[in-house]
Amino acid sequence: MCDGAAVMSEAVVEVRRVSKSFDRRHAILRDVSFSLRRGEMVALIGASGSGKSTLVRAIAGLVPIDKSSACGDLGSATGEIVLFGQLMQQDGRITRAAKRLRVRVGVVFQQFNLVPRLSALTNVCLGLLGQMSLFWGTIGRFTAMDKQRAMQALLRVGIADHALKRGAELSGGQQQRAAIARTLVQRAELLIADEPIASLDPGAARRVMDILADLNRSDRITVLVSLHQVEYALRYCPRTIALRSGEVVYDGPSSGLTAALLTSIYGADTEELSAPSPESVGAVNAQTSPATMLGALLPLAGLAPETERAVGHGMGIR
Ligand SMILES: Nc1ncnc2c1ncn2[C@@H]1O[C@H](COP(=O)(O)OP(=O)(O)O)[C@@H](O)[C@H]1O
Ligand SMILES: [Mg+2]
Repeated sequence: MCDGAAVMSEAVVEVRRVSKSFDRRHAILRDVSFSLRRGEMVALIGASGSGKSTLVRAIAGLVPIDKSSACGDLGSATGEIVLFGQLMQQDGRITRAAKRLRVRVGVVFQQFNLVPRLSALTNVCLGLLGQMSLFWGTIGRFTAMDKQRAMQALLRVGIADHALKRGAELSGGQQQRAAIARTLVQRAELLIADEPIASLDPGAARRVMDILADLNRSDRITVLVSLHQVEYALRYCPRTIALRSGEVVYDGPSSGLTAALLTSIYGADTEELSAPSPESVGAVNAQTSPATMLGALLPLAGLAPETERAVGHGMGIR
């Protein structure tokens, strides 16, 4: 029992005094600090532009955080992101450990999670790249056992019967489920999902959230999920972290999110929170085009960027 408590309190993510600006005048993240313990399922909420995607990408080691000197009025705080007790980023630099750490982190974006030309099964197999040698990873030869593992993962997320369909032929919800299956074969201990349900209808959104909740409960995968619609945070996540203009304005039980707090987080536009906004349905997120998705996926799998072109062109991957 003691061991269980120790595991639960183990920090999987520690974000310490993290700031980020793309230009020097305008901070996108401002002195953000929080930690996630193993086994937690936490929602990250905030209005569009509040910095959710930037924070998610920083945690995944896809975006470098600011150096302390760039913190401006925040003084000389040294920003750090620590995953599984090891530094992923510090003071503006992504560390050497990042490559190894990324293999332990599954990332699901709002869209473009799959290579459209490849089957769902092969897309899921891509989650194995981080565990393969560079040679086999580059030519993308997956063994019967690899495919069996991918099938089990597809079964787990309820789309095994679509295994041979191309990514482009799957519905939005099926694509998200395949992306989650990919993190399963990757054996990710931390799953970060950036608005995974923003483009889905309510039924598909619930199925995706049910799967995340099941993986969290049954497999004890730590889940951080950014959500525009707060009702899903309330329903699925015991804890919510809220961003407003890049600052954490709430971190606590989701049940503590009062109407007044929500108005302060989202401004007067709170009615957009309970229904999918028209622009979020079918919207194209410039940060997650197919090319950037692949660019993100390969480093996650511990592969060099030059491998991207090979996999992007599906060299040997069928
Ligand atoms: N690569 C980038 N270059 C410049 N500005 C960016 C970049 N990525 C995001 N931003 C800006 O950062 C702010 C926060 O964006 P984002 O993290 O995508 O917020 P959210 O996911 O909450 O909508 C926005 O104003 C956005 O325009
Ligand atoms: Mg976003």
